[in-house]
Amino acid sequence: MAYKVALVSGAAAGIGAACAKRLAQDGAAVGVLDLDEARCADTVAAIKAAGGSAIALGADVSKRDQAFAAVEKLRDALGPVTILVNNAGVTDFTPFEEITDELWDFVYAINVRGPMILAQAVFPDMKAAHWGRIINISSSSAQTGAINMITYSSSKGAVVTMTRSMAQEFGPLGITVNNIPPGSVMNTIMSEANRDRFQIPTEVLLQTVPVRRLGEPEDIANACAWLASEASSYVTGQTIGVNGGRVVT
Ligand SMILES: NC(=O)c1ccc[n+]([C@@H]2O[C@H](COP(=O)([O-])OP(=O)(O)OC[C@H]3O[C@@H](n4cnc5c(N)ncnc54)[C@H](O)[C@@H]3O)[C@@H](O)[C@H]2O)c1
Repeated sequence: MAYKVALVSGAAAGIGAACAKRLAQDGAAVGVLDLDEARCADTVAAIKAAGGSAIALGADVSKRDQAFAAVEKLRDALGPVTILVNNAGVTDFTPFEEITDELWDFVYAINVRGPMILAQAVFPDMKAAHWGRIINISSSSAQTGAINMITYSSSKGAVVTMTRSMAQEFGPLGITVNNIPPGSVMNTIMSEANRDRFQIPTEVLLQTVPVRRLGEPEDIANACAWLASEASSYVTGQTIGVNGGRVVT
């Protein structure tokens, strides 16, 4: 791709790290954002070792001042930001009767308000360029619903709907907006914690996945790279399931 600057949230680990590395491989300069700047070091080092360009950014995506300051830092260092991957997220398995207002607000602040704030922070750059790509990472639980995941799955459902509305509003400005709802993606902090918690044998999980393998962060990164490229310019407002066929809509 021609020189472009991408911002990937939650990029210290897991899916976000894979997306950041893949976009850098495709030629983007990348802002690697996570809660703590120091935790971004591995992703930044991997990108630089492969000959790419990246900087670490520490910010809580739910905090407007921190998110805008991080985008400002990225813009100053590498240039206007025209690719945004809203990947940072938190999961939750609280049964319905135990959900508190505090828990609900915490999850929604990160999973829903965070992507909206980051989109607002990069929007002027995309508008000025008359070109932009926003890729929101949702969840297959938003498509299917899930037991003990009312808070999380509904927050990701909001991400799907936000994608559709942003796509309609931003389309005339040359900005596409799509979401990827991952299925079960292994080798991330979130999925390892879930695996420890539920102890579901891999053979059982595999029975729910037609291609008979679990997802890797790179599977999501591949779709992300395509959505960030010119090749996807006629695709907007869509939900691109990357789940081995586990959810078919
Ligand atoms: N792994 C899966 O199976 C799976 C399935 C469906 C959806 N997802 C979604 O994919 C995304 C990435 O998941 P993952 O499995 O790589 O998770 P992960 O926990 O490995 O990585 C998430 C990253 O986001 C960061 N983060 C959390 N809150 C943040 C905040 N407020 N501000 C900035 N950064 C923050 C974390 O520090 C972490 O580095 C999440 O949005 C998740 O909901 C994952």
